[in-house]
Amino acid sequence: MTFSIGVVGVGQFGGQFAHLFNLHPGVSKVYVVDERPERAAEAIEHYGLAGSVASFEDLLASDVDAVAIFTQRWTHGPLVERALRAGKHVYSAVPMAISEEEIARIIEAVRETRNVYMMGETSYYNPATVYARKQHAAGKFGRVFYTEGDYVHDMDLGFYDAYQYSGGERWKETASYPPMLYPTHAIGGVLGAVPTHAVSVSCVGVRDDRQDGVFDRDVSMFGNDFSNATALFELNDGGVMRTNEMRRVGYPSHIRESRFRFFGTEASFEQLAKVTVWQDKANVHDISEQMESRPSMSLDDPSLANVAPELRDAFVSGLAPVHDSERLPEEFRGAPNGHEGSHHFLVDDFVTAVNNRTLPAVNAWTAARFTLPGIVAHESALRGGERLIIRDFGDAPASL
Ligand SMILES: NC(=O)c1ccc[n+]([C@@H]2O[C@H](COP(=O)([O-])OP(=O)(O)OC[C@H]3O[C@@H](n4cnc5c(N)ncnc54)[C@H](O)[C@@H]3O)[C@@H](O)[C@H]2O)c1
Repeated sequence: MTFSIGVVGVGQFGGQFAHLFNLHPGVSKVYVVDERPERAAEAIEHYGLAGSVASFEDLLASDVDAVAIFTQRWTHGPLVERALRAGKHVYSAVPMAISEEEIARIIEAVRETRNVYMMGETSYYNPATVYARKQHAAGKFGRVFYTEGDYVHDMDLGFYDAYQYSGGERWKETASYPPMLYPTHAIGGVLGAVPTHAVSVSCVGVRDDRQDGVFDRDVSMFGNDFSNATALFELNDGGVMRTNEMRRVGYPSHIRESRFRFFGTEASFEQLAKVTVWQDKANVHDISEQMESRPSMSLDDPSLANVAPELRDAFVSGLAPVHDSERLPEEFRGAPNGHEGSHHFLVDDFVTAVNNRTLPAVNAWTAARFTLPGIVAHESALRGGERLIIRDFGDAPASL
């Protein structure tokens, strides 16, 4: 079986996925739409896609079966809901949404329409998460009682360029996007391995002091001046998860921007930029090599022309030894990948879910557990670290 898909937003990220959807044998045709038509035209030419559609509304009115949302990070919720209600299966880049209400509306729309929804959380296939997921499933940790997930990416390492490309002249209004509203690479990497969920949080935000108009409350469309934030979550199984979202930090994010730690009663996993170890009560095992992503294309590839040089490492990083590449379609062999090999798996997950009418791993209920804790953490930081309860939407149903 095959289906057609329309990719909405072909800026720095969407084109890479349009290409992979086009390569996948489970997809018949790939269309693109962008508010800037020249970006759509460029993607069509570069990747040999089926064509473009004039607007998001026209795409919803068309007979495409699925829609993939790659618009700016604060815009996803309402677009996703409209696409589901227009009868489309939906792939969404992270985050799921930026408010509890938007998340609730997406879950309701999935429940009512029974269309496939998937959030493309790259950390779900981060080598560290893949490894920890296997170890946890095999019971090797014992009881996991403490975890850490960090998304550590300094604004100077490509984000100024990315926001200018994305936001045009008024880019400073959007570059202040609150760090805890982009929590999924940290939280999703932990809960993607140990499937618990957060029930309460206390978060402290660090107010920015660079005074360059970014993270300035008077300029910010989010009224935000936190550039770093740290949250401590209580989990439903009595464990603890700590999350760092850092945008002003002396750290080489191009080497590894998401890092994880898992502490169990029998064994633990710890990760730094270039080192990863597995430890039991007797010894330390260096597993760094299993985590090493191989580049999937050149940093000079023309498809990366719109991507800031400092961000390109993430866009080319491919499979690591820990990945199970056997499950991927033959057509992906040698194809561009990204974010530590995750792009191939995410595209394959969505295509498989749509063609088989099954729930993908990061379905709406899981996506809510990866996203809402950050939204509540940001609110906690605004209230000086007050401990707040996090709503849970429950486990996903057994089938669509
Ligand atoms: N590791 C990851 O998972 C990861 C990495 C990078 C980006 N992302 C996500 O991917 C998304 C896209 O990021 P990006 O860097 O490509 O952004 P971008 O700003 O470069 O591109 C967004 C594009 O969407 C278009 N657009 C916006 N609203 C539209 C609409 N209603 N109809 C048609 N086109 C519309 C814009 O014109 C623009 O070209 C973001 O949500 C971001 O969070 C995720």
